[in-house]
Amino acid sequence: MKNKDYLYLDHAASTPMRKAAITEYVNAESFGFANSSGGHKLSRDSKNLLEDSREKIASLLDVAPGEIIFTSGGTEADNWTIKSLFTSTKLDENLVTSNIEHEAVLASAEWVSSLGHKVNYAKSNNEGLVEEDEFLDHVNEKTIVASLMWGNNETGVIQPISQISKALKSANESTLFHSDVVQGIISENINFHNSGIESAAISAHKIGGPKGVGAMFINNKYKLPSFFHGGKQELERRAGTVDVPGIASFAAALEEQQNKFDDEVGMMKEEREIFEDKLKNSLEVVIVGDSIDRLPHISNIQFADINSEVLLIELDLNGLGVSRGSACASGAQKPSHVLEAMNVDEKFINNHLRFSFGWSNQKGDGSKAADIVIKAVQGMK
Ligand SMILES: Cc1ncc(COP(=O)(O)O)c(C=O)c1O
Repeated sequence: MKNKDYLYLDHAASTPMRKAAITEYVNAESFGFANSSGGHKLSRDSKNLLEDSREKIASLLDVAPGEIIFTSGGTEADNWTIKSLFTSTKLDENLVTSNIEHEAVLASAEWVSSLGHKVNYAKSNNEGLVEEDEFLDHVNEKTIVASLMWGNNETGVIQPISQISKALKSANESTLFHSDVVQGIISENINFHNSGIESAAISAHKIGGPKGVGAMFINNKYKLPSFFHGGKQELERRAGTVDVPGIASFAAALEEQQNKFDDEVGMMKEEREIFEDKLKNSLEVVIVGDSIDRLPHISNIQFADINSEVLLIELDLNGLGVSRGSACASGAQKPSHVLEAMNVDEKFINNHLRFSFGWSNQKGDGSKAADIVIKAVQGMK
């Protein structure tokens, strides 16, 4: 089967690069290949391209250019904010996060804990939602960082970020509020300042940009210590030669994503609805978070009496690419910590698959995917 005939519904894991992003990468590599920290014309060209890209991204996200620091992706941005304040603070200061975060946040939290700090985990309810009271119950006067993701990467469930950020500041004005918006930004209009987010992790490869590139948004009032030590790149906040072509390509991807946002997200919503309706009409399924706000691109489905590992292979053989949860977790073949946090009964925990729509899908994909899934599940009964 040719790749063009293969139906890809794993956009939450990664997306193909947009043509505009590839073109920009190629142009930027010939125009801005030089080291952006050098002192000659070609370095100045590269530096200008870098700063133009920063301005473009900042303007698209409605933040100041100095609030965007480029990173190698979402993982680095999560690590940076969560860990760096704990490297030079008193042991009685703590971190608050939730038990449904991405591994980039959870593993960073474990590292903070290994230093001797207390980490308080707010619990998700059975629908995958971390409720405001539950989160705030864990915050106290010693909380220096609180982190809650915008939308979950396995279930798509949207967390009450604006309400929590407001209440958090009343509980402790000096707590830095971080949000991992890596999935949220794919299909939600997010305004960091209006939502009270003070630091955020963003990844280019989830929106049609290159892999290995991303950004940290950090409110101007904070100056986090540099995480890498070396040169004075990235506003003296992140050492290392800057990937200018990758960043220019990221800016082009974000520009196209924002310009086409309503059409693309509208298509994802419609296709997901068609897909879910067809499955509900033909199979015994539970759609996670069906009755609450979910990111429009994610559909996490529990199939009665079907082992999802076997179904995943069956779908793959029939030309449909999906996933069992987060890419990192499926590689490790561990049960999903998100489903466990939601108290999904042990006997159903291996019955789930994640289908995720994205910019490269088209009209008809929802129905086509549903037909493949229905046939595969019926064949397994
Ligand atoms: C919610 C979330 N956070 C962080 C990441 C990591 O981002 P990156 O692949 O850019 O390191 C991912 C990627 O799967 C994600 O879904």
